[in-house]
Amino acid sequence: MRILVLNGPNLNLLGHRMPAVYGRETLDEIQLLVRGHADRLGVEVKFVQSNHEGALVDAIQQHRDWDGLIINAAAYTHTSLAIADALEAVQVPAVEVHLSNIYARERFRHRSTIARVCWGQIAGFGYRGYIAALDLLVGRLSEGETQ
Ligand code: DQA
Repeated sequence: MRILVLNGPNLNLLGHRMPAVYGRETLDEIQLLVRGHADRLGVEVKFVQSNHEGALVDAIQQHRDWDGLIINAAAYTHTSLAIADALEAVQVPAVEVHLSNIYARERFRHRSTIARVCWGQIAGFGYRGYIAALDLLVGRLSEGETQ
């Protein structure tokens, strides 16, 4: 089972960027925690982070034969039709993750262009959201449900 963990713009600054909102963990630390959990579950995870919308689209397309996708599209969540179209095109089950509770923040963060094409969304649980997303995808995939 192969699961891609995709992180969008400014998430490379985690640990330094607004820690009260996004947590104290760096992206490398989150990656280690998720990787440890993936090892226990016996699944392969790959992390990709980019500040560029097209690079995120490329990564989604390049992994179209993978089993699942965890995506924190960061600010592109609220704007990107290209990322939503890519997710819809590849039909890989995707869980949308946000570290912060986007519904408790500014109004422009309440709308997600990608929610429509994701299996579901996790928001507000910090790095634990990635681990929960992994559990949910592995649960779904091991039940043989891929759509
Ligand atoms: C975020 C929420 C977005 O609104 C914001 O632009 C981010 C991070 C989150 O993980 O809480 O960069 O996706």
